Amino acid sequence: MDVPEQSKQMDVLEGDFKTVDTDLLVIGAFEERLGALSIWSQPTAGEIDRGIATKEFTGKAYELFLTPITNDGYRARRLAVVGLGSSGDFSVERARRAASAVGLHARQRKISRLAFAAEPPIDTPDMVQAIAEGLTLAEFDPGQYKTLERDTFAIQSLGVIVKDPARAIAARAAAHRGRVIGEWCNVARRLDNEPGNSLTTTVFADRVADIARGGGMAVEILDERAIAKLGMGMLIGVAQGSHHPPRLVVIRYEPAGAPVSPVLGLVGKGITFDTGGISMKPAADMDRMKDDMAGAAAVAAAMRAIAELGGPVRVIGVIPIAENMPGGGALRPGDVLKSASGKTVEVLNTDAEGRLVLGDALWYAHQQGATHLVDIATLTGAVSVALGRITSGLFGAPEAFVEHVRAVANRAGDRCWPLPMFPEYRDQLRSDIADMVNTGGRVAGAITAALFLQEFTAGLPWAHLDIAGTAWADESKPFMPKGPTAAGIRTLVELAFTEFR
Ligand code: BES
Ligand code: MN
Ligand code: ZN
Repeated sequence: MDVPEQSKQMDVLEGDFKTVDTDLLVIGAFEERLGALSIWSQPTAGEIDRGIATKEFTGKAYELFLTPITNDGYRARRLAVVGLGSSGDFSVERARRAASAVGLHARQRKISRLAFAAEPPIDTPDMVQAIAEGLTLAEFDPGQYKTLERDTFAIQSLGVIVKDPARAIAARAAAHRGRVIGEWCNVARRLDNEPGNSLTTTVFADRVADIARGGGMAVEILDERAIAKLGMGMLIGVAQGSHHPPRLVVIRYEPAGAPVSPVLGLVGKGITFDTGGISMKPAADMDRMKDDMAGAAAVAAAMRAIAELGGPVRVIGVIPIAENMPGGGALRPGDVLKSASGKTVEVLNTDAEGRLVLGDALWYAHQQGATHLVDIATLTGAVSVALGRITSGLFGAPEAFVEHVRAVANRAGDRCWPLPMFPEYRDQLRSDIADMVNTGGRVAGAITAALFLQEFTAGLPWAHLDIAGTAWADESKPFMPKGPTAAGIRTLVELAFTEFR
C-alpha cells in the first residue's frame, strides 16, 4: 500500500518521432497554430487535414483527436493530438492537464503504451516535469473498492519524447521529478478515498509512518498517553468522542549536510472522519468527510517525494490524527480546553475541530525546532463560498513568506489566492470566559479559522492552505476524474527546493 501500485519508469526518448515504439504518439497543438499540424497530413493519409477542416479538432484546451498513422515509416500505430488552448495564456498547469487528459482517454480505450512529444515550447524542464506528472496522475484508479467492475487495465509504458539532444539530460531529470511527485500524489489520493471504517486513526498513523520510513525518514508515533502528557488538550478533546484514539505522527527529514536552519515545518489536518461531533453535520454529503485527512496525506506524500528527490533542507512533518464523533465521552459545546501552548479555548461548535487539532500540532512543530510553518487542511466550508472549488485559500504572515508560497504554488500549478487577516477580524474570536472561542460566527469563516491557527504559530513565518474546496472534485473533468485531487502536494514539495526566509 505504501508503495505506488504501478511503479514504472518515465522514459525519456530522444530524436525522431518515426523511431518511437509506442501505441499512441501524442502531440500538442495550440489553437492559433493548427497550421503546424500539416506535417502530419501525409503520415495520417489526410485525416489531420480533414479533422481540422471539419472543426472536429480546433485546438481548444484538452480537446482530443485520434487517428491511425498509415505511413509504414513510423513505428507508432496511432497519433493523438491534444488541444493546448491559446499560447497566450499557456501554463505549466495546462501542460499537466493536457497530459492527464490524454492519459485518462488512453486508459479508457485500453491503450497501454503512450509517448508524449515535448516539442518547443513545451520541452523546457518545468513543462516536461508537468507532462510526466500529468501522465502519472492519469494512472489513478478511483474504483479501488470495486470487485465487479474493477478497472484492472494498467498503462504499461509512459514516455516523453524530446527531439533536441541538448535538452535530453535536463528532460530526464525533470521527467523523474514529475513521475515521483505524481506517484506520491496518487498514493495520497488513494488514502483520501479510503473510508472511515478502514482508515481509522491508528491505521492511518501506521500508513503515514510506513510512507515516511520507506523514504528513509525517522518517524515517531505518539499515542493518546504521550499526547496527553504533552498537554495537547485540543487534540485530546476532539478525539474523546471516538472509540479510535488520537495519534500524533512526527516525521523528520534530515538530509546529510543540510544547514541547521531553516527547518520547514509541515502540518496537515488528519481527521479520519468528521461527523461534526455533538454539533453534528447534516446527513447530506456527510460521506465526503472521509477525506478530512487530505491535508495529513498531503504532508506525508510531499515529505516522501521530497526525500526521494533529495530536498536540500530539513523538514519536520507533524500530523495530528483524530476522529470527530459524537458519543458519551464526546466534547460538548461550551467545554473549555487547554492547549499545549497554554492558551484556553471555549468550544462553541464541535464541528470546528480542525483548528483545534492543528493548533496543538503547529505549536509542537515550533517546539521541535521548525523555523517556518506551513499547514494544509480541509478546514472550512467558508473557503469555497469565498473562492469556489478551483482555488485554495492562502493565509499567513509575514506577507513576504505568504507571497513566496503563493509564487511557488502558482509555478507548481496549485491554484491558491490570499485572503486578508486584518486584526479587526480577531474580535470575532473573543470569549467571555476563556482566551478565545473556536468559531467566529458566519461571516468571514475561513479568515477567522486562519486567525485561530495563528495563535499557535509562535510568531514564526507561517502559511496556511485551506483546501476544503479543492481537495475533492464533485464533477469529472477531461483532465481529472471526480474524487480526490491531491491539492497542495506539489506546492509543499516545490517549497522544499526553494530558498525561503
Ligand atoms: N471538515 C470541515 C470543513 C469542510 C467542509 C471540508 C466541507 C470539506 C468540505 C470542518 O471541520 C468544518 O466542519 N468546518 C465548519 C466550521 C464551522 C463550524 C465554524 C464549517 O466549515 O462549517
Ligand atoms: Mn468539522
Ligand atoms: Zn473537519
